[in-house]
Amino acid sequence: MSVRSWSYPVVLSLAALFCAALTPPAQAAGDTARGKTLGYTCLGCHGVIDYKNAYPTYSVPKLVGQHPEYIVQALKEYKSGERGHATMHAQASSMSDQDMEDIAAYLSGTPIKAAAGAAAVGTPPAPVATCQACHGLNGIGIMGTYPTLSGQHADYLEQALAEYRAGSRRNGIMGPFASQLKAEDIKAVAEYFAKQRPALGTLARPTTRYSAAAQ
Ligand code: HEC
Ligand code: HEC
Repeated sequence: MSVRSWSYPVVLSLAALFCAALTPPAQAAGDTARGKTLGYTCLGCHGVIDYKNAYPTYSVPKLVGQHPEYIVQALKEYKSGERGHATMHAQASSMSDQDMEDIAAYLSGTPIKAAAGAAAVGTPPAPVATCQACHGLNGIGIMGTYPTLSGQHADYLEQALAEYRAGSRRNGIMGPFASQLKAEDIKAVAEYFAKQRPALGTLARPTTRYSAAAQ
């Protein structure tokens, strides 16, 4: 499989380099019970199947089965402004690191893993030869800070890649990779990862008196 300008071995050694640089010190797992209390309001959007963000319209990302480390990283990026989404900035800005750990432990549930020897669903589009060094052929992030993409909403993945390419989502790793993708590549890789299995999921929101508290 050929990739436009990155050779597979180069990307693999880059991935190893990033792994070495980014591996956080071993952390205690978050407190799921505390996370459930703190994370209740999140379900107003993340607990509604196929719920959509408005203006621009795209699906709210699935979090069940995601790596908790990545959820914490994403919340820190919203808090710092590296990711610009206004609602998520508001949600994250009052959280402590411990709040983030606990909420991430609750929302991620059991992180999904690729079944041993699992084949890809469908034919991987050419750029996947690059992506798989970090996101796996099946879209399962090979380490905690590499998000799992498997079964994520295709329109959300497209939105994320378009934002990396435009620079409105600032990330030193994904910016350069996304800038090499054409619009049709973005669509093809998003559709490919969205149909991989096992899939990320949505935590069902219990119906309660909090149901209206979606903001
Ligand atoms: C009003 C709806 C809404 C609420 C409430 C909400 N979110 Fe979000 N969340 C979104 C949307 C929309 C996105 C995608 C934003 C973007 O494009 O960056 C998102 C993105 C995220 C992401 C990034 C996922 C990824 O794959 O990168 C995380 C993590 C997250 N939210 C966690 C939370 C937590 C934790 C709470 C509760 C404290 C919460 N959200 C509350 C709508 C919401
Ligand atoms: C060297 C490792 C590496 C490679 C190669 C790589 N990624 Fe990523 N990817 C990451 C990291 C790390 C993040 C999280 C960045 C952040 O915090 O915003 C990420 C985030 C993403 C996201 C956002 C997911 C979300 O839930 O918001 C998408 C989509 C994505 N990558 C797709 C791709 C595609 C498509 C390719 C191939 C063209 C690719 N990546 C190649 C490491 C990599």
